[in-house]
Amino acid sequence: MDSTKYSLKDFYDIPGKDIMEKAAVFSEYSEDVKRRHHYQYRRVSLTGSGPTMEVIDTYTGKAREMIYMASNDYLNLTKHPRVIEAGKRALEKYGAGAGSVPLLGGTLDIHCELEKAVAEFKGCKDAIIYTSGFGSNCNTLLAMLGKSDIAILDQYVHASIVDGCSRTNVRFFRHNNLEALEKLLVKFENEYVTKLVVVDGVYSMDGDIAPLDRIVELAHSHGAYVMVDEAHATGVIGENGRGTPEHFHIEGKVDIVAGTFSKGLGAVGGFIAANPELIEYLRFYSRGYMFSTAMTPQVAGSLREGLKVIVDEPERRKRLWDNINYFRNNLKTLGFNLGNSQTAIFPLIIGDDMKVKEICRRLDEMDIYVNPVFYPAVSRNLARIRISLMSEHTREHLDKVLNALEYLGKEYDII
Ligand SMILES: Cc1ncc(COP(=O)(O)O)c(C=O)c1O
Repeated sequence: MDSTKYSLKDFYDIPGKDIMEKAAVFSEYSEDVKRRHHYQYRRVSLTGSGPTMEVIDTYTGKAREMIYMASNDYLNLTKHPRVIEAGKRALEKYGAGAGSVPLLGGTLDIHCELEKAVAEFKGCKDAIIYTSGFGSNCNTLLAMLGKSDIAILDQYVHASIVDGCSRTNVRFFRHNNLEALEKLLVKFENEYVTKLVVVDGVYSMDGDIAPLDRIVELAHSHGAYVMVDEAHATGVIGENGRGTPEHFHIEGKVDIVAGTFSKGLGAVGGFIAANPELIEYLRFYSRGYMFSTAMTPQVAGSLREGLKVIVDEPERRKRLWDNINYFRNNLKTLGFNLGNSQTAIFPLIIGDDMKVKEICRRLDEMDIYVNPVFYPAVSRNLARIRISLMSEHTREHLDKVLNALEYLGKEYDII
């Protein structure tokens, strides 16, 4: 099979083929991607997230050090000594697991402390925590919206949100387009019971920010609620890293603030911050909370400390923003198309799948770790290289990447 002629979408639904047959066809595709050295997935790290990391080369099996330009560990909290120590303390005190689901014995005092801290950090009255960010969004939406309701989604919201809306009516509006949103709000104002607008604060493949202040105003004026996913905003935007509501000075006005613990907070898990009545409802109606064992003590301990570090060490965010500004100015001067990126996520939009694959292969050979992104994760003509920055990237790291991108950008005629 010639993998350059297909995308992942082509193997999802092959008419007449059962799941085992589809998997067999997909594996032919996957083998060809590997043969062409375009398989930039599941590269195995020996050292974990950091500005550089030791990675096993997929093709030679040998370890080598790479500059890691693809982590969501924006503030480098995964390896912060306080975060590690707090995790160890919790592990020693409570053991490796919570022992049960949260409602039936699995709730520890550190879970409650974490929920309280998240609620405060997000300017909300209460919060609920989940063991994954994906599960958090998905289960919350499944619990909140049914057949008589509607979810009005930005077309670029995360997959966890789309999956969470599978039991309700769904309409998408053009990305960050307020006129398109307003049209839907007007159209459905009197048609459904719960109307919920869901957006990401910072978009994961574009790095741009939702105009949340205007979205909240519009939604509320048409009787709709707003949920914002703060996965890539938490710790990064807002004066104190509290995210998109802080960035727009509307803390306390967003009905449901969702987020992950896996990115700016450097661990794993998800949260929903909202009013106490909704949080209590979710404890009994979101099945991924009700029927799933509580977060491990070590993760809860690390996260509780991570939130304190964000408050105590604003210089981490400042260093991240110095890096963002430096990297963006240089990429713009070189002539790269960065879309509307405003944060630590840089989409180098190229549009041509083959060029993206080849440039990523060459960057990998130069010990620079980035991610290629294709349809259906982004629109067909918007294939890109996704780069993300961390607080602990040095100028030397960034310059090495910029030089490589300049060289390859010219060779492949994209700048
Ligand atoms: C916008 C957004 N929401 C939710 C998630 C899911 O979070 P997690 O990886 O913590 O499960 C992601 C992560 O991949 C994301 O980018």
